[in-house]
Amino acid sequence: MLFRLPGVYRPQRDTWLLAEVLAGRELGPGTRVLDLCCGTGALSVAACEGGAGWVTAVDVSRRAVISTWLNSKLNRRTVRVVRGDLVDPVRTLRFDVVVANPPYSPASDDSVRGRGRGRVLGLAWDAGIDGRAVLDRLCVAVPDLLAPGGTLLLVQSVLNGVEKSRTMLEERGLRVEVVASEQVPFGPALAGRARMLEERGMILPGQRTERIVVLAATDVGSRAGLRPGSFDE
Ligand SMILES: C[S@@+](CC[C@H](N)C(=O)[O-])C[C@H]1O[C@@H](n2cnc3c(N)ncnc32)[C@H](O)[C@@H]1O
Repeated sequence: MLFRLPGVYRPQRDTWLLAEVLAGRELGPGTRVLDLCCGTGALSVAACEGGAGWVTAVDVSRRAVISTWLNSKLNRRTVRVVRGDLVDPVRTLRFDVVVANPPYSPASDDSVRGRGRGRVLGLAWDAGIDGRAVLDRLCVAVPDLLAPGGTLLLVQSVLNGVEKSRTMLEERGLRVEVVASEQVPFGPALAGRARMLEERGMILPGQRTERIVVLAATDVGSRAGLRPGSFDE
């Protein structure tokens, strides 16, 4: 059961695709998981259910943080929930698995406006003109949060450029694979923007589905300075 305050992202196919990938990984009492952009905390709860012993969740939205906290309690799980901008609150920590379903819907412009529910909805979906406003920041910042051998599991749409994410993560020393993908109907945000996307040439005329993919980006120990002595091994 998941509780959701108004405006907080209702878990959708991208959430569940990521949860399926997470369920296929070996998580144990010593596994440290970070749920970045946690929304309702559906993925935090899934990580706990999968056996992870240490789960931390971060979201910039107060309503999302409250929802995640309540869902951890309702499901009798322990999740450390922190409000903050992306990796800021956890910069000094290291994780074995980072799951992220960030906002990636292309928006009419680069700002998130409004107040209350409208603002929370904007934060959940809107990701600038190319849909990469949060993805780009995440690809830069998350590699430094990974413990040796740690993995980022990231879901996004092909509309946002999967190769761009792959390149950014590989440039930071991670090995990147597409581990799941699915063609899905446009969700509520994209459905309302289909005309705009057609005009921009981001989709074909009449297209109302998109492919979502999960990338697994793993630290393979090649990042200079991360592990002292790694060049001599
Ligand atoms: C697409 S929703 C995903 C929610 C949840 N992980 C899921 O899969 O159901 C994206 C979430 O990212 C949050 N978010 C947006 N910008 C953020 C930022 N700069 N730092 C942290 N969280 C952010 C939103 O508030 C929203 O809850």
